[in-house]
Amino acid sequence: MRLLFIGDILGRSGRAIIAGELPKLRARWRLDFVCINGENAAGGFGITEGICNDLIEAGADCVTLGNHSFDQREALVFIERQHRLLRPVNYPPGTPGRGATVVQTAAGANVFVMNLMGRIFMDALDDPFAAAERELAGAPMGVACDAAIIDMHAEASSEKQAIAHFLDGRVSLVVGTHTHVPTADHQILPQGTAYMTDVGMTGDYDSIIGMDKEEPIRRFLTKVPGSRFEPANGAATLCGIAVETNGKGLAVKVAPVRLGGRLAQAEPEFWG
Ligand code: FE2
Repeated sequence: MRLLFIGDILGRSGRAIIAGELPKLRARWRLDFVCINGENAAGGFGITEGICNDLIEAGADCVTLGNHSFDQREALVFIERQHRLLRPVNYPPGTPGRGATVVQTAAGANVFVMNLMGRIFMDALDDPFAAAERELAGAPMGVACDAAIIDMHAEASSEKQAIAHFLDGRVSLVVGTHTHVPTADHQILPQGTAYMTDVGMTGDYDSIIGMDKEEPIRRFLTKVPGSRFEPANGAATLCGIAVETNGKGLAVKVAPVRLGGRLAQAEPEFWG
């Protein structure tokens, strides 16, 4: 199967490149499944139902979130009816929505997707390792699904690497999100799981992790909050990771994707 995971959509410029490019990429690369992290899609903070529907319309099969899941309060309600939208699975019991799901592709394959959130330098949610273990026990790859994608939304590289090696051989892809800068360590781990510590954001890289530069710099200089953070609205770079899996759901090819905007461009050559 051909899987594409796209990193954190940041505001209007991130949404624009998805609407413009994703339908073409789906056709050109003959993608079986596309997952997008959308937790910064609404002005940098959360996601609305309209934006979620737009991402699905553009070609996302599933949308994941993170620490900004409920910044737009309507998400507390519509997440219950939007089964392709996931918030971290290790939120406490009783949190609206779900953290894992199985989505069927057009060809009839089943893809398991799970959103996890780290606990280092972040809100202290439940243990992501125990949550992952529990969820995967209920949907083992090769039995309940043909491929499995894990979005590990976390600040610390060590925690992302630990989750990846913990799940190596049991899922197709563990990909890090949240830090908004792509790392250069995309690889296939020893037991066959594709991994990248952070996939990067889909937004304007002439920014401080996607936001207009002035206010963040001012806060570093003065330590006093002034105006709101606003998304930078220059041309976005679409950042993602491309993975091809075998009949067991394990990765056989992996490559970074960086299209448009300011970053050096990268495409999966194995898909032509
Ligand atoms: Fe985040």
